Amino acid sequence: MAGFFLKKDSGQARMTFMNFKGRDIIDINDFSKDELLFVLKTAKRFDPAFVKSDRSNYTIARGKIAALLFFEPSTRTEQSFRSAAQKIGMGLIGFNNPELTSIHKGESFADTIRIMMAYADVMIIRHPEPGSARKAANVADIPVINAGDGPNSHPTQTILDIYTILKVFGRLDNLKIAFVGDPLHYRTFHGQFSALSKFSGNKFYGVSPKGLEMPKEFRNSDYHDVVINMKNLDKTLAELKPDIVSVGRIPKEYIKGDSSKYNFQVSVNTMKGLPGHAIIMHPLPRVNELDPALDSHPNAIYFAQARNGLYVREALLALILGRIF
Ligand code: CP
Repeated sequence: MAGFFLKKDSGQARMTFMNFKGRDIIDINDFSKDELLFVLKTAKRFDPAFVKSDRSNYTIARGKIAALLFFEPSTRTEQSFRSAAQKIGMGLIGFNNPELTSIHKGESFADTIRIMMAYADVMIIRHPEPGSARKAANVADIPVINAGDGPNSHPTQTILDIYTILKVFGRLDNLKIAFVGDPLHYRTFHGQFSALSKFSGNKFYGVSPKGLEMPKEFRNSDYHDVVINMKNLDKTLAELKPDIVSVGRIPKEYIKGDSSKYNFQVSVNTMKGLPGHAIIMHPLPRVNELDPALDSHPNAIYFAQARNGLYVREALLALILGRIF
């Protein structure tokens, strides 16, 4: 992995933590390729796979406060941000049930942001409405991190996804990626496609039932639809031979009518047809699309992927607070 970073004459060589200080993190497309690589390199400083002890990071953001505004449920994103903030010495305020705040009395979104920013140094917001994180950033005078705005964007998920890929393969280029599930609605696929399109030689295959193909605005000439009856998933993946099988649940909240007709499952049997090095990723939570019997397979890396979220979020918090030296 080390050799991948800091190529001569690349923008990374000129980039410092100052490029990130005070920045909002709203959309993956706000990052250049070199900025993404800088964040990934910084995340290594917090990852026990690369550093013997992360003790030196415990105090780097001492005295700073993170405000978590979770307007909809989360396990991984909320808890990993809580953990990341505390691991670098930050205090925490916030809520994950807006009904227990003065929003219940009719306080507006903008006023809620104005009040929370008065008490914190960085704001982390999850909200069901697309564009809400950008709206918060337009009101707030502290950095805002988008922790998922409905079907729109979840940039820190994308960064932890590509960190995971880099950890496994040692590169982010010349990879074959199959998106399995619902490329039409699933923000994880949109984010991975946008980020990995910044790197050369990657090929993308949207493996889905008819009607759930990737929206036009996300496509380029490296993206291909593989529309199938999902009963034929194992055979299709065996023919495609992807390096990465990126799986997502069918988000029934965005599908009109009966979504159960789109059900599928990736299983131990699926692995048998894949190249030996191929990995299975999933942002989680899963419903039925990953057979639990797959969990012990060494190439099923979705729990390690979730753990990587901690290191990436520690790095992002430290960078936007200007506390990385
Ligand atoms: N992957 C993800 O965003 O999970 P949560 O909804 O549990 O945060």
